Amino acid sequence: MSENDFVFKPSKLVNGSSSWESPSNIALIKYWGKYRNQLPKNPSVSFTLSRSKTVTKVRYRPKIKGDKKNYSFSFNSSEKKSFHEKIDKFFFRAQKYIPAIKDHFFEIESKNTFPHSSGIASSASSMSSLALCLMDFEKKINQNISKSYFLKKASFLARLGSGSASRSIQGPIVSWGQSEFYNNSSQLFGTPLNKISEVFKSYQDSILIIDKKEKKISSSLGHELMESNPYAKNRFFQANKNMGIIKSIFSSGDVKNFIKIVESEALSLHAMMMTSYPSFILIKPNTLSVIDKVIKFRNSTSVPICFTLDAGSNVHLLYPKINFNRVQSFIDSELLKFCESKKFINDEVGNGAKKK
Ligand code: DP6
Repeated sequence: MSENDFVFKPSKLVNGSSSWESPSNIALIKYWGKYRNQLPKNPSVSFTLSRSKTVTKVRYRPKIKGDKKNYSFSFNSSEKKSFHEKIDKFFFRAQKYIPAIKDHFFEIESKNTFPHSSGIASSASSMSSLALCLMDFEKKINQNISKSYFLKKASFLARLGSGSASRSIQGPIVSWGQSEFYNNSSQLFGTPLNKISEVFKSYQDSILIIDKKEKKISSSLGHELMESNPYAKNRFFQANKNMGIIKSIFSSGDVKNFIKIVESEALSLHAMMMTSYPSFILIKPNTLSVIDKVIKFRNSTSVPICFTLDAGSNVHLLYPKINFNRVQSFIDSELLKFCESKKFINDEVGNGAKKK
């Protein structure tokens, strides 16, 4: 499908409301580097999570004369002007594909099921839930759209808000970006994988909160710095190759090789940050202490646990559900001391967004 397939021209004035909850996701093969209109420099793939979610409710009506903007936004019941820049950009990009947006006013209310200041990225869950509400708005104008088009375009629109959000519409494992190994893969939207071993369908993700503060460097700036990173070409090559390797791991259930590739991806992502110019470091000493403990624990037990990192200092511990109790006591006894306010969140692989 091309970008033009996602342009829906007809306009009609409508009133209505829509509410969706959408989860966060954790990338296994990382997206880091983009071009043009939020297109990825390399394909990526993630576990969709189930408990770390954003719930978004949108009420829409025809625009009236006094409306200065075409939306209002509240987060956890209070107006959040600091989010306006991101939503402005998102609406500007989205109205090319749903021009009827221009003629309407949208009252947007969002809340997260996880603490905003936990350092967990909320752009994937918030942009995907908002994109789904906009698709309900499009559906109100054109009732004939198919379920498959609805989901693809929701992912397409979510991508315009935040690249990784394109992978949060469905689950349990979603790829985004053209890859020779994935049929139907696209630069424009996320595609759920169909051959997945049982072990990965209930994989656990315990998120250790190392630092609650918002990171100093935004993902957008990080992506931009890849343009001049001397290792960028090799990184994109590596990610493309890893997409093929991890695809066969997903279908065979080879947890040993899953660990190898996931940890290598996490460290490669942070290596890109450290080798950008200007360089930056998002991991903290406690991130490294946790990683060290996790490797030692894995080597001295038979628990196939591994770590991954997003664009921050928090550590995601990934492991099969069968090891849940064992890992919980390991966190309690050995890792909590490295977490800010002794905080961590237990999440697991999930099946994507739900209409409320
Ligand atoms: C490290 O999706 O937050 O989490 O497209 O600029 O909004 P924007 O970036 P964003 O980048 C996510 C980067 C990552 C890796 C990943 O999720 O694949």
